[in-house]
Amino acid sequence: MAILSMREMLQQARSGAYAVGAFNILDYNSMRAVVDAAAELAAPVIIQTSVKTVLFWGYEPVVQWYRQLAGSVSVPIAIHLDHCKDLEVIRNCIKHGWTSVMIDASSKPFAENLALTQQVVKMAGPKNITVEAEMGAIVGVEDDIHVREQDAHLANVEEAERFCGQVSLDCFAPAIGTAHGVYKGEPKIAFDRLEKIAERTGLPLALHGGTGLSDEVFRRCISLGCAKVNISTQLKYAHIGGFVDYYHNHNKEYNPLKNLAAQYEKLKEGIIKDIQLFGSAGKA
Ligand code: 13P
Repeated sequence: MAILSMREMLQQARSGAYAVGAFNILDYNSMRAVVDAAAELAAPVIIQTSVKTVLFWGYEPVVQWYRQLAGSVSVPIAIHLDHCKDLEVIRNCIKHGWTSVMIDASSKPFAENLALTQQVVKMAGPKNITVEAEMGAIVGVEDDIHVREQDAHLANVEEAERFCGQVSLDCFAPAIGTAHGVYKGEPKIAFDRLEKIAERTGLPLALHGGTGLSDEVFRRCISLGCAKVNISTQLKYAHIGGFVDYYHNHNKEYNPLKNLAAQYEKLKEGIIKDIQLFGSAGKA
């Protein structure tokens, strides 16, 4: 089975100055597109699940797809729970076989964020499950977490260093000016802050809000220490667009399997481009 801890995956990526794509899947078809794209490019990859997606399908079906798909290829594939505030969901994911979880207590004050993160590390550590935590507020909507533009704030360098010094994390997500969803204008990325946080924490950083960033922004963030790139909105658009476009162009056929095949191709095409851009092709 091609399962490798996200810890090793991200440490290798950080030292090799490339990033592993973490793609938010929606169902079996999108998970298959992620796995097939990674296998085709010999790339490590992270299957990312939002809380909503997990609760929609149930823990066991999602983890079964993962075992079946990851088990059929030789590239390393981790399964990671994205932004989660609910310790019960985290506990269930750990129990069912997720290899990695994210605790998002970033809306809480420093001490509370740290205490909750430490609690999750305590739950995950003995099972060798990796943990990501967040600091600052990333604008936009991800799952049920809404952050308005006026409430967004970047991670503080000193606080980030202090936080990461007090809990054993595998990946750290500082808010650096990216946003979840579709960008309205040119995002203002705090590259200097990103560089300092990467240096002072020494951790592989997660770049959230990947959809819509330019190639140049991706390259620069990766060169400064982002070893995990989160992509979600792109998959949502490909999921619906791939299916609907096929229907519009072939509406006499009325064969849903063909729509699903078109959806799969559209998803995979975008994922392949991302993996190539992030530099993880051939790194498996
Ligand atoms: P996008 O939806 O902007 O790609 O962001 C994804 C993300 O950061 C998930 O945590």
